[in-house]
Amino acid sequence: MKIFMDTANIEEIKELNEWGIVYGVTTNPSLIAKTGRSQEEVIKEICNIVDGPISAEVISTDCEGMVEEARKLSGIAPNVVIKIPCIVEGLKAVRILSAELIETNVTLVFSLSQALLAASAGATYVSPFIGRLDDIGEDGIKLVEDMVNVFRKYELDTAIIAASIRDIEHVNRVMLAGVDIATIPTKVIREMMKHRLTDEGLKKFLLDYENSKK
Ligand code: G3P
Repeated sequence: MKIFMDTANIEEIKELNEWGIVYGVTTNPSLIAKTGRSQEEVIKEICNIVDGPISAEVISTDCEGMVEEARKLSGIAPNVVIKIPCIVEGLKAVRILSAELIETNVTLVFSLSQALLAASAGATYVSPFIGRLDDIGEDGIKLVEDMVNVFRKYELDTAIIAASIRDIEHVNRVMLAGVDIATIPTKVIREMMKHRLTDEGLKKFLLDYENSKK
C-alpha cells in the first residue's frame, strides 16, 4: 500500500517527505482554503517537494468548466492529477481528460456503483471517503473491501485511494483490505510511528549500554 499525505500544509509535507514514506499528496478545496493561498501557488510548491502524484481539485461542476480547469491545472507540473467530484458532469469530464492522457482522481465516492462508474469513465484513481460514511453510521471500510474485490474481479485499471481516514484503525483495515493507496492526514501518519514498547525498548538498550561502559 502506498502512502499519500492528505494535506495542503507545505511545512508538514516538507517534514514528512524527508521520512522517505510519502508517495503522493491529495488536496481538496477545503484543505487549500486552510492555507490562505491560491490553489496554483500551493500545488506548484507541493509539486516541487514531492515527485509523486499530486491531486488538485476542480471547482467547476459542469463538464466544460471542469475540463478547462483541468487543462490549466495539469499545466502546473507533470505530476498533477485532477480531482473530479463523482457527478455525471464529472464522468463526462473524466472521459475527455483520459483521452487527453490527463490523469484524474474521482473523489467524493460513497458507493460501489459510483466507484464502478468512475472506473468505467476512465478514472486513473477513485477516492472512497471512509470517515464520512462512518459519520452517518455506514461502514466505510466495507465499501473499500468491496471495491478492492470488484476491481480485482474485473481487472479494472483504476487505482483505489482510501480517503477520509481518521485514525490508525482505518489505516490498518484498508491495508488488510489490499487497497492500492491510502491518503492519510499528517496527524495519523505521525501516530503510525508510535508504540510505547519501541520507546521503552530503546530507553532500556541505551541504559544497558551506558551501564556496560562503567
Ligand atoms: O481526501 C479527502 C479528505 O480530505 C476528507 O477527509 O476527514 O474531511 O472526511 P474528511
